[in-house]
Amino acid sequence: MTYQGLISRYKQYLELPEHTQIISLLEGNTPLIPMPRLEEEFGGEIFVKYEGLNPTGSFKDRGMTAAISEAAGRGAKTVICASTGNTAASAAAYAARAGLRSIVLIPEGKVAVGKLAGAIAYGAEVIQIQGSFDDALSLVVEITQKTPIALVNSINPYRIEGQKTSSFEICDVLGSAPDWLCLPVGNAGNITSYWAGFKQYGKGLPQILGVQAAGSAPLVLGHPVEKPETVATAIRIGKPARGEQALEAAQQSGGKIIAVSDEEILSAQRMLASEGVWVEPASAAGLAGLVAETASGTFEAKGKKIVVVCTGHGMKDPSIITESFNAPQVIPAKYEALVDLVGA
Ligand code: F0G
Repeated sequence: MTYQGLISRYKQYLELPEHTQIISLLEGNTPLIPMPRLEEEFGGEIFVKYEGLNPTGSFKDRGMTAAISEAAGRGAKTVICASTGNTAASAAAYAARAGLRSIVLIPEGKVAVGKLAGAIAYGAEVIQIQGSFDDALSLVVEITQKTPIALVNSINPYRIEGQKTSSFEICDVLGSAPDWLCLPVGNAGNITSYWAGFKQYGKGLPQILGVQAAGSAPLVLGHPVEKPETVATAIRIGKPARGEQALEAAQQSGGKIIAVSDEEILSAQRMLASEGVWVEPASAAGLAGLVAETASGTFEAKGKKIVVVCTGHGMKDPSIITESFNAPQVIPAKYEALVDLVGA
């Protein structure tokens, strides 16, 4: 049968109200890519779940198809979210598809260019907040409590329903859950969704390694971070809305939540790109965590099946690459000049 998107495919596992009216961009069905070079380096079987290949370039589309389908079905006219960028682009795209108005609040000056451009292209009304993601989230919660505007952040339970589908897909491809699942943690909706999904699907449970950036690691520190900072702007979050559930997921699974430095994140981004998978910095945090755990001797990858979730495409944040490299060399449009340069 032709692929019709996540809700159609996994309908029986998703708790969505009767009034839900499917709005889909054929999200999901992303590849689980084997990484032979990482396997050689770390042992074990290592796969990347490449969520950057969703329609708007991040995993957010899984939850957004569900949240917008529910909102549209109950007759909402306007949706709103706070975002470090990816949720904004996804909400804007699905709202456009449904014919709804979308408003997105982002922290001033801290959103990667590919995400901002996406939100604008899909027609969102973009508002910058003089504050953090956490401040923006408080504002959208308040306005949705006081007006009929629908909230599509991952506090919305249907976002979690939709995002569970990635764990279903992993089990469908591997035949069972992996031994370990490594992923970045920001507002903590995704780790919550994976854990709920694996528990529901009945194909085994992975241990979960959740990874925060050291400058934005409230779940590792055990308290909110007032001024979160990290190069991985997607997870620059000091008060995760689903923090408790994230800690529970890690603990129940026999895994943990750790923090890695920006340098470790960027190094993992390079490792992935050198094997053909370019992801945005936050998306490399899962691998950075795996590297750190292996190096410290706390984790032995050999003999294990490991899935590294890469949540967003590298094209979301091109500046992080272009700003750290010199512009390509310029030569005359002459064969001799080319041969001179590349050597023959
Ligand atoms: N990776 C990427 C690329 C993200 O954009 C996010 C979250 C995460 C990981 C963390 O996921 O919040 O469920 O723990 N981005 C949100 C946004 C906050 O607004 O786009 P989480």
